[in-house]
Amino acid sequence: MDALPGLDPSAPPLAVENLQVEFRTDIGVAKVVNGVTFSVSAGETLAILGESGCGKSVTAQAIMGILDTPPGFVTGGEIRYRGVDLLKLSEQQRRVVRANKIAMIFQDALSALNPVFTVGFQLGELFRKHRGMSRADARKRSIELLDMVKIPAAKDRVSDFPHQFSGGMRQRVMIAMALALDPEVLIADEPTTALDVTVQAQVMQLLAELQAERNMGLILITHDMGVVADVADRISVMYAGRVVEEAPVYDIYANPAHPYTKALLESIPRVDLKGQQLRAIGGLPPALTNLPPGCSFAPRCRYAQDVCRQSPAPQLHTVSPSRGARCHFWQEVIGDE
Ligand SMILES: Nc1ncnc2c1ncn2[C@@H]1O[C@H](COP(=O)(O)OP(=O)(O)OP(=O)(O)O)[C@@H](O)[C@H]1O
Ligand SMILES: [Mg+2]
Repeated sequence: MDALPGLDPSAPPLAVENLQVEFRTDIGVAKVVNGVTFSVSAGETLAILGESGCGKSVTAQAIMGILDTPPGFVTGGEIRYRGVDLLKLSEQQRRVVRANKIAMIFQDALSALNPVFTVGFQLGELFRKHRGMSRADARKRSIELLDMVKIPAAKDRVSDFPHQFSGGMRQRVMIAMALALDPEVLIADEPTTALDVTVQAQVMQLLAELQAERNMGLILITHDMGVVADVADRISVMYAGRVVEEAPVYDIYANPAHPYTKALLESIPRVDLKGQQLRAIGGLPPALTNLPPGCSFAPRCRYAQDVCRQSPAPQLHTVSPSRGARCHFWQEVIGDE
């Protein structure tokens, strides 16, 4: 199984480079992912942040090889698992990586679980199919996994159907399924949006614990800047299918270098600024079928000048060795209160 061509154990478990995805639809070609680059190392948590429709889930689908094709097509770039470009693999090789190396938790837990099979059956099937385990052993492992994600009375609950679990528990079952085959990278796409705030915190805590225990790379996709502060090491901020800023989490919160990041931060409620007005980001994201020339954020940006509205879009400027921002005026932005 490890006969992947060009496998390099010292390369990061996931590196995405200049990824491009478009959807060819009746109303035109939507450029959904426009040159996304990021990587995650073992034991690291990378948050991918951005408002609805900026291409977060599509990026994840492209990595997993589950893009809806047609209408979606990867038109450029590389997705490397330990140096191996997944886009060049056969579907069968890809399936091996998908199940064993890079796993994903989906935005909607209920629709990702099959309603007609028990949770135990669905977990067990992973072990039977990929590990050739017997029914009895698979059941034993399933119970261990439910225990691991802190489902009370796992031994009894293993025979229940998905609808018999609460929302928070279903999300835990999803985590158990994703971790069943010991992946090196876990992509969690908005793993807590459907849950209430207390349960959200518990599920995040659990994810963080499991990630640390397993020294796993974790990609946390979210549009909630509040959620990531505690758990992420680094943040990549996406806008209209591009990463516009990437930085260690502390730097981003202390001093954003891209106007969009700054606007996102100003739009989250802060207890210490009670009574102050939240600043909503004016305007709307651009139509992906008709992206403006230059910087996609320029039409909504208070720093924008003529150069921003001209092609090419700004390059990723080096802010520090561990930071980059796609903005001509990042120095001005970072110096602003
Ligand atoms: N199957 C599809 N066919 C056509 N367009 C699609 C398809 N899937 C996604 N898109 C488009 O791609 C764009 C990005 O979608 P994506 O689901 O990646 O957004 P997102 O950043 O995950 O947003 P959210 O925070 O709401 O989950 C959207 O404009 C969406 O309409
Ligand atoms: Mg999404």
